[in-house]
Amino acid sequence: MFLGTGAVSAALLGRGLRSVVACDNLRSNTAVFEGAFALSQSDEDAFYFSLGELNRLPGVPGYITECFAGTYFTRDNCLRMDAVREEIARKKESGAVSNAAATSLLAAFLLAADRAANTLGQYDAYLKHLGRAGYENGRHVVDVRVYEEFTLRPLEFLPAVERRIFTGDVFDAVSAAGADTAYVDPPYNGRQYCDNYHVLENLARWEKPAVAGKTLKFDRSGLKSPFSQKRKAGPALADLIARLEADHVYVSYNSEGILTREEIESILSPYGHHVVWELPYPVFGKGAGVSRKRTVIEYLFYFRKK
Ligand SMILES: C[S@@+](CC[C@H](N)C(=O)[O-])C[C@H]1O[C@@H](n2cnc3c(N)ncnc32)[C@H](O)[C@@H]1O
Repeated sequence: MFLGTGAVSAALLGRGLRSVVACDNLRSNTAVFEGAFALSQSDEDAFYFSLGELNRLPGVPGYITECFAGTYFTRDNCLRMDAVREEIARKKESGAVSNAAATSLLAAFLLAADRAANTLGQYDAYLKHLGRAGYENGRHVVDVRVYEEFTLRPLEFLPAVERRIFTGDVFDAVSAAGADTAYVDPPYNGRQYCDNYHVLENLARWEKPAVAGKTLKFDRSGLKSPFSQKRKAGPALADLIARLEADHVYVSYNSEGILTREEIESILSPYGHHVVWELPYPVFGKGAGVSRKRTVIEYLFYFRKK
């Protein structure tokens, strides 16, 4: 549940996990994960051939240039991204490549877009000084990586295990997602993932919606998560856990989240004995340039449901 970058699933796959069910409501997350599974030989050939072809395409103006040139990306990179994203869609629609190869190309596209983005990693803001040199009077004003040419790179493929990957709300997937072990990693604070990653999500969906406001967001009303809302997070977690079909259940959260450790323990209390591990984790203060360290405690809750 709550796939995110897929880092946890990928780590477990590296330790021999043979089957995985994953869900996230952002296509930009599921596409990167789905696209990283090893392809059949013919799909892999098509993937590498297309990667070379796409990297040689000249830029063309389109939706990305119109919406994001000079903000989240340089204009030159927007032109390249327009050409590449349009061609991936065309290859998929025309059947020139299989769905699996097209998803791997989309994964490579999204990773390349994220590398070229003029942000601090999230898309709730972009840096103001695009066009200027990296450093001015010893001050870091732009990450010079944003000036590198937008380029797709080969993927590090995961073993092609049995998998079911859902793009959509966790409550729609939960009944179809029976498993031995469930790992539940919900958002824990008020920052909505669809706000933080709206640009990647927009590029992944490729529906070309209108964007608005200073941060150029599309209408994400269907993607807002109850887990990021103070009044809804507790009931949503309780409901999700009640509906989970799994023997072993792990839930991760941290000490700066909407719910306290005690509130989560009370949600788990109907299931009998549970265990909590705590891992203190030093982080830097909120906001760029703030260097005050504080300690966050990561919690991992475990219980058996069946
Ligand atoms: C804390 S992150 C998970 C991080 C993940 N463990 C990783 O390794 O990257 C939470 C994820 O849940 C997703 N999400 C939030 N609300 C959701 C919902 N109602 N249904 C499905 N996914 C949701 C977000 O898009 C985000 O990717």
